[in-house]
Amino acid sequence: MSTTNQTRRPLVAGNWKLHKTIGESVALVREIKTALAAESRCEVVVAPVFTALAAVRDEIKGSVIKLSAQNVFWESRGAFTGEVSALLLRDVGCDYVIVGHSERRQLFGETDASVNKKVKAVLASSISVIVCVGESLEERKAGKTLQIVSSQVRSALDGLALDHLPNVVIAYEPVWAIGTGVNAEPEEVQQAHETIRGLVAKQFNDSLAKSTRILYGGSVKPENADLLMGQPDVDGALVGGASLTADSFIGIVKAAG
Ligand code: PGA
Repeated sequence: MSTTNQTRRPLVAGNWKLHKTIGESVALVREIKTALAAESRCEVVVAPVFTALAAVRDEIKGSVIKLSAQNVFWESRGAFTGEVSALLLRDVGCDYVIVGHSERRQLFGETDASVNKKVKAVLASSISVIVCVGESLEERKAGKTLQIVSSQVRSALDGLALDHLPNVVIAYEPVWAIGTGVNAEPEEVQQAHETIRGLVAKQFNDSLAKSTRILYGGSVKPENADLLMGQPDVDGALVGGASLTADSFIGIVKAAG
């Protein structure tokens, strides 16, 4: 299922990963805020570390920028030392949570099953989710890209209600393209996004599939953003490295619309 992205509001999210103190986070978001037009067709989201969420929330109050966390635990309370629930993320002011990033899958043992639990917990707390999928280099070399991405999407969205879908954003991030400077070819990206949209249509329905935003992530920079976001099924970007400075992040936001 190929579509045109004219009807979907583009979204660019900056995933700051494990970078920046509270002071540095506030300074960066202030620069982004100043550079952004008051009215932007593109939805702009920043995902600082947990400890900077409250300060960034205060800095973006009244602006077009939205707040995201980078991870969550699926239980809402209890004896789970070191974890943070979706309810607490809503309490601190998060509009979004990133779930299932490949770094979490690779370094912290997240599985398709745990990703699905987290997606459900976030949606049950009335926060939107940016759920990440993507194949590894080995899987790509073995010609399994679409198979892997399809099974990750299917299980991430398993058991969701139709009315949850408007709060779901999917990010296609080939693992080999993250932080490497090598991005996927626009045609490959389009093919993966088209496959993902087709799956959403099958699992839910056509109209939800047409309105679901699918972001690309993996070495997005101002220089390649135009080409990537010019693909009909690419609705924005999840940005790591290039989101750590206001200039490059804004360059990508502008390319998105
Ligand atoms: P990158 O990271 O833009 O630095 O490749 C993307 C991501 O991890 O979301």
